[in-house]
Amino acid sequence: MSEPRKKITLPYLFDKVKKGEPITWLTCYDYPTAYLQEQAGIEMILVGDSLGMTMLGFDSTLPVKMDDMIRHAQAVRRGAPTAFVVGDMPYMTYQQSVEAGIVNAGRFMAECGCDAIKLEGGAAMASRIKGIVDAGIPAIGHLGLTPQSVSALGGFRLQGKSADLAKKIADDAQALQEAGAFAILLELVPDRLCELITERAEGCIIMSLGSGPKAHGQLLIYHDMFGLYPKFKPKMAKVYGNAGEVILNGLKNYHDEVIGGQFPAQENYFGMSDEEFNELKNLVG
Ligand code: KIV
Repeated sequence: MSEPRKKITLPYLFDKVKKGEPITWLTCYDYPTAYLQEQAGIEMILVGDSLGMTMLGFDSTLPVKMDDMIRHAQAVRRGAPTAFVVGDMPYMTYQQSVEAGIVNAGRFMAECGCDAIKLEGGAAMASRIKGIVDAGIPAIGHLGLTPQSVSALGGFRLQGKSADLAKKIADDAQALQEAGAFAILLELVPDRLCELITERAEGCIIMSLGSGPKAHGQLLIYHDMFGLYPKFKPKMAKVYGNAGEVILNGLKNYHDEVIGGQFPAQENYFGMSDEEFNELKNLVG
């Protein structure tokens, strides 16, 4: 049997960056999936507020509450004890004040055993990052397509296409680094912008979601990888298997076997001896 993996820590992640080895990161919201991701050697896990869409069926991430996140992050931690687990701050749990941000980030650490938090936004949110980092909590910024601002951004689409807009994202990345973010996620920005920000990053890990290969690591949404989100498949996602189809076929088989009397079979239930059964009949009259 191979040795259990050592806990993934910040020094481990920075060491990978130093060696030029990409970091692997996936979203995850539940215990069995976390268990599988841990077995597969995934280093970072994001308990994303995308669970509002992928797990709870909302059309956006906005209805997700802190208590939803806590419940899911606790389950993920139980399934993936050595992964670097990141709690995603849901809508309006940090935007209103630095204090709110610190209190809610603290809940991820104290109640779930998370290793870090992530929040969306650039320079305008730098004070939240600073407050959280000053409170001793590692923080990740999130730029580009930030789903909590999807209405203001005009939909789920590429961000920073023009030089002006790209410059704004580069400036935001700088502000987050100066505020103390140890990592920044760039979601759906052009590859060359991601490369430029990665080249200029100092002491900050740049992660890409749909922003090309020239970052320090990659993030994907688990449900997109396995055909588990029925509403749409983002272009940037790669499908590694159609678990949705496998599960659907299994469900149809179950339905047909119950109707047809093939399930349950002898091996799916337990019997009782004649002696005990006769006694039971006496007892119940
Ligand atoms: O909630 C989430 O999963 C995220 C990703 C879209 C990056 O924030």
